[in-house]
Amino acid sequence: MIARYARRVIIRRALPDDVLGINGMHAACGRSLWDSRVLDEDPDRCVVVAVIDGEIVGAGKTHHQLEDVIPARAGYYLGGVSVHPDHRRRGIGRALTAARIDWVWERSDTVLYFTDDHNVASMRMHASFGFEEIARSSAILDARADGGALVLFCAQRRDARSTRDADSLTGRA
Ligand SMILES: CC(C)(COP(=O)(O)OP(=O)(O)OC[C@H]1O[C@@H](n2cnc3c(N)ncnc32)[C@H](O)[C@@H]1OP(=O)(O)O)[C@@H](O)C(=O)NCCC(=O)NCCS
Repeated sequence: MIARYARRVIIRRALPDDVLGINGMHAACGRSLWDSRVLDEDPDRCVVVAVIDGEIVGAGKTHHQLEDVIPARAGYYLGGVSVHPDHRRRGIGRALTAARIDWVWERSDTVLYFTDDHNVASMRMHASFGFEEIARSSAILDARADGGALVLFCAQRRDARSTRDADSLTGRA
């Protein structure tokens, strides 16, 4: 539950039956609809939804990129987070992002995402998780920039970062 919002918000893993609710929310956002296969059982992907009174008001997923495709490196990517316009600025996007990042930390010390350079809401929200820009390009994986450029960001797990810093101090890195 998200304390900032007076309404009870549940963040949970998505189920196959959620596809209609997710795509209804995507339509309200003017975002592309998801193929129902996104919700197929897959231990290598995390799809989460935000629910208020049984209605899906937000969703986000991950993508495991197995190979480097310059400028995108292999790794776990956050993708496609959206929150219904009526429920924005209440911490739901951040909660959907925190849930997916926690899932990634069980698999990797690094998490990536990219967005259009004009998507201030996305960049500010992700910045609070320590994402730093690593590349810019007109195309990243299967996405093309919507006018300007796509910006690729990366964040490191905090304890992994401090281990790495300690290793460099002790000469182990
Ligand atoms: C990006 C998005 C998911 C954020 O969802 P949200 O639930 O409104 O985000 P939160 O309430 O968790 O906001 C977290 C922080 O992000 C930043 N933020 C969110 N929306 C913002 C906006 N419109 N302008 C500037 N900063 C914004 C703020 O720093 C905010 O913290 P604050 O409210 O304490 O100032 C939502 O705006 C959205 O669905 N946008 C359309 C889809 C999209 O672009 N997705 C990202 C693709 S990478």
